[in-house]
Amino acid sequence: MWRYLIRPILFLFDPERVHHVTMVVFVAFMKIAPLRWLVRRCTCIDDPRLRTQVAGIDLPNPIGLAAGFDKDARWFNALADLGFGHVEVGTLTGHAQAGNPKPRLFRLTKDQALINRFGFNNQGSVDAAAALRARRVHPILGVNIGKSKVVTNEDAVSDYLASLERVIDVARYITVNVSSPNTAGLRDLQEAASLRALLEAVSSRTTELAAAREIAPPPVFVKIAPDLDDDSLAAIVELAIDAGMAAIIATNTTISRSDLATDAAVVDAIGAGGLSGRPLTERSRAVVAYLYRVAAGRIPIIGVGGVMTPEDAWEMICAGASAVQIYTGFVYGGPLIVAQMNRHIRGQLEARGWEAVADAVGCEAGTSVTAAGAEAATDMGAA
Ligand SMILES: Cc1cc2nc3c(=O)[nH]c(=O)nc-3n(C[C@H](O)[C@H](O)[C@H](O)COP(=O)(O)O)c2cc1C
Repeated sequence: MWRYLIRPILFLFDPERVHHVTMVVFVAFMKIAPLRWLVRRCTCIDDPRLRTQVAGIDLPNPIGLAAGFDKDARWFNALADLGFGHVEVGTLTGHAQAGNPKPRLFRLTKDQALINRFGFNNQGSVDAAAALRARRVHPILGVNIGKSKVVTNEDAVSDYLASLERVIDVARYITVNVSSPNTAGLRDLQEAASLRALLEAVSSRTTELAAAREIAPPPVFVKIAPDLDDDSLAAIVELAIDAGMAAIIATNTTISRSDLATDAAVVDAIGAGGLSGRPLTERSRAVVAYLYRVAAGRIPIIGVGGVMTPEDAWEMICAGASAVQIYTGFVYGGPLIVAQMNRHIRGQLEARGWEAVADAVGCEAGTSVTAAGAEAATDMGAA
């Protein structure tokens, strides 16, 4: 019904508007107790084999919602009712900001992809933290923080720290986002010296704030781009471990436009932005496999990027992801996709006689994935 009726109707309209309207309607729908019960019955799978742990956090299942879907931390409880094991809200910035002019979200249906250049439109970390504090939070909630547009890269650290201070007591984990292509210069923060300074500052401030407030310090994750070569990826692993990061989230959207089925003139007309969905599948999986091998168990990887089907989710785990996040796969796959992914993962575990997701993590992070990674990295370089 989603693929042949609801999605074609929704896809007739402006993507950003559809996103907003469907979420408002869905949240209202989920306030009706019997409907919520029915939805949860279809989507939430409680099975001990799906439970998994990342950075000391117990997740009910490995499929999470990636950052950017619930930018202002408004809809996470209703989204959790679709079976997500965790929900990452944000990106929140120190200052409230409107983001880039519209239109800024585009569908590439032939490619099962999206291009967005939102530019961190959000109400800012002050308001979001207050809103979060005023509600009961049902899911495992991660808060993704980024740099405000008005703040220069030189002052980026203090902007991240301001947001950290506001959200530390409402976040089960914090993600430091240095990988969105839609804030000028943001990805330069992935360069070693800047990244080290930023991650060390966030890490030590987390420890200080947690001690002062007498709470357990939430683990801090770093989210990286897919458009990095192997040397940079390997350097980030070492740096993330040194700086006390508890996980790496790989990957954000790509700036590459290679191998798209959509007409080149259409893609050119859309212009700048981050590409997500099916064209990212192979690259993100290769990055995860590479990080997994370099990390060698020292830091877990959360795999995101082009996870469109239940099979993709399983393969991301096999490539080395301790947990998976989806965004575009949710838009194209619809509200039952999380349950379908979790059922498939459970089936794969059963078929192999494995007892837990952890048994599958990295089971196929072998050399063939490296080869794909090397090819994809070359493509990215050419793009
Ligand atoms: C419309 C849109 C908005 C996004 N906004 C953010 C964001 O604010 N912060 C962030 O870290 N990632 C953001 N992302 C990136 C996603 O979290 C994810 O890393 C990326 O889309 C790859 O996953 P996917 O192929 O499943 O979409 C956004 C992605 C999309 C499509």
